[in-house]
Amino acid sequence: MSVIRLGYVHVRVTDLAASADHYRDTLGMDTVADEDGRLYLKSWDEHDHHSVVLEEGGVGLVKLGYKVAESADLDEYETKASAFGARVERMSKGDNIGVGDGLRITLPSEHTLELYHDVEYLGNSTGNWNPDPWPREGLRGIGVPRLDHTLITTEDPVLLERFFAEVLGFRAAEHLVGGPDNDELVGSWMFCGEQPHDIAFVKGEQGKLHHFAYHVDDWSSLLRAGDIFSMHDVPIDFGPARHGITRGETIYFFDPAGNRNEVFAGGYRTGPDFRTVTWTMDSAARGINYTHRELDPDFLNVVT
Ligand SMILES: [Fe+2]
Repeated sequence: MSVIRLGYVHVRVTDLAASADHYRDTLGMDTVADEDGRLYLKSWDEHDHHSVVLEEGGVGLVKLGYKVAESADLDEYETKASAFGARVERMSKGDNIGVGDGLRITLPSEHTLELYHDVEYLGNSTGNWNPDPWPREGLRGIGVPRLDHTLITTEDPVLLERFFAEVLGFRAAEHLVGGPDNDELVGSWMFCGEQPHDIAFVKGEQGKLHHFAYHVDDWSSLLRAGDIFSMHDVPIDFGPARHGITRGETIYFFDPAGNRNEVFAGGYRTGPDFRTVTWTMDSAARGINYTHRELDPDFLNVVT
């Protein structure tokens, strides 16, 4: 029984047409469905039906979808989440285009998290037989290969970490701690596979999105992404820079609605025997932006 990965992020955008241009032309995602004011998008190296849903009207997170290894596991996740005290309901095939039956859980942080296994398989753009390393027809904009992780905010990081650990089997790769004795959890970066994080959360308002991130291959790809952002006048939050936490490389930027996105490269490998790394608040600027060792307060305060 395990959670495989972040499968989809469903966000609200103020102007669907403007955001569609950003996600398709700047990031390079492809439209797989366009129904009822919702645009379903997929990156070129993703196999499942979609990884991002844009819904017109407002800003911020509608829900997150995490794919589990077996559909039979859903019963056990339902039992565990209910025992934890979370609100859980069954989700039906077709609630999300291309996605089968699943669970819809209201997290202690008030975010909606969906668990599913069955999802329509579309395959990636290079196929599984003697594939090229990237699509022969070329990439549009950055050509992000896949979704990577998300960071959300919660009033109670301890409770949310307990939920992800006890119900979903995630482990903490890194902690950010504060308080006089450095024993108050401010943030947690948690993984379900071998990435440094599949979800992260920091102390803040309930139910909010800090950012969601796309993987890119390396530092060169990240710099090229920065070139594309400049060509397309995309607002940059910070980067290119190195994270201390996760050791990844990053550029943070905003979609036209103001949702923060990230392109993320690098990072170390984790696993069941990984021992949690701890950062203290007096080193938080270095933890988040190791290169510049400074942090604009808006980076922590602006969420959608
Ligand atoms: Fe991130």
